[in-house]
Amino acid sequence: MSEKTVTVRVPGTTANCGPGFDSMGMACTIYNELTLTLLEDETIDIEVTGAGAEDIPINATNVVWTTVRYLLEKAGNTTYHGCRMRMHNNVPLSRGLGSSATAIVAGLKAANVILDNYFDDDQLLKLATDIEGHPDNVAPAIFGGFTISAMHEGVPQCYHFMPEMPLKLVVAVPDFYLSTSKARKVLPTEVSLKDAIFNVGRASMLAAALAHNNAEFLKIAIDDKLHQPYRAQLIPGMYDVFAKAKEAGALGVAMSGAGPCIIAFTLENNEAVGEAMKNEFARHYVNADILQLELDSQGAIVIEN
Ligand code: HSE
Repeated sequence: MSEKTVTVRVPGTTANCGPGFDSMGMACTIYNELTLTLLEDETIDIEVTGAGAEDIPINATNVVWTTVRYLLEKAGNTTYHGCRMRMHNNVPLSRGLGSSATAIVAGLKAANVILDNYFDDDQLLKLATDIEGHPDNVAPAIFGGFTISAMHEGVPQCYHFMPEMPLKLVVAVPDFYLSTSKARKVLPTEVSLKDAIFNVGRASMLAAALAHNNAEFLKIAIDDKLHQPYRAQLIPGMYDVFAKAKEAGALGVAMSGAGPCIIAFTLENNEAVGEAMKNEFARHYVNADILQLELDSQGAIVIEN
């Protein structure tokens, strides 16, 4: 009877970054950890602690486990049928910081290491995107840093790098869940050419500003007309929180992923920015915690094998 155990750490992520809807993402210095043991028998023994633990199923429907099974099937495994999993989560659940991407990437990474790295990282990105539906959160969770992803002939392609700019990511985390599917339902199926042009320019500018360490262009770049205006109705006071964060010194502010987290990008005054966001949310009767984060450079890593 053989058992193999591995522990992986996966960063939370912020997708879209304003203009890069379904394309851009950043890995953040907040982490979930998974210790996975694959078993030959059909035991399923799952324990979850930390953020949102009470709302995460610990049976065969657990996303990490269904992801592990997906990878095992793709790798043609016939050895392993069960698992023991211990997960500790710091990434807030269902708030726009990539909690579902961390679960998927953690399952894939850990199972892949147990299978002696049967797949490379690009193949893991493909598997993760198949499961998640879009690559913008799973890409930074795998690679770290800033990621630009695009689907090419059905396969996600990802350009990633670690910006030199010492960006601080100030995240206001409201105390309510917002599912990505609900936040996608309010989006239009078509947008105007004018709005598309607005985003094309800013997304390109954002990538260039991060690549060339140009904070001035970042200020112009972090804006959006493709998704945030439609989703604002789901987050009380969203644009007021944006305005207060900028007044307090943020370079730019955006919804984090599909929300409800709001993320401010700043080089200084991060404490004041956080306080301003929290106070403005409170004025709209929303309790929000503030996370002071930075960019993670490593992505998913093995911390014990
Ligand atoms: N790009 C996605 C969205 C991120 O905004 O819907 C959330 O998973």
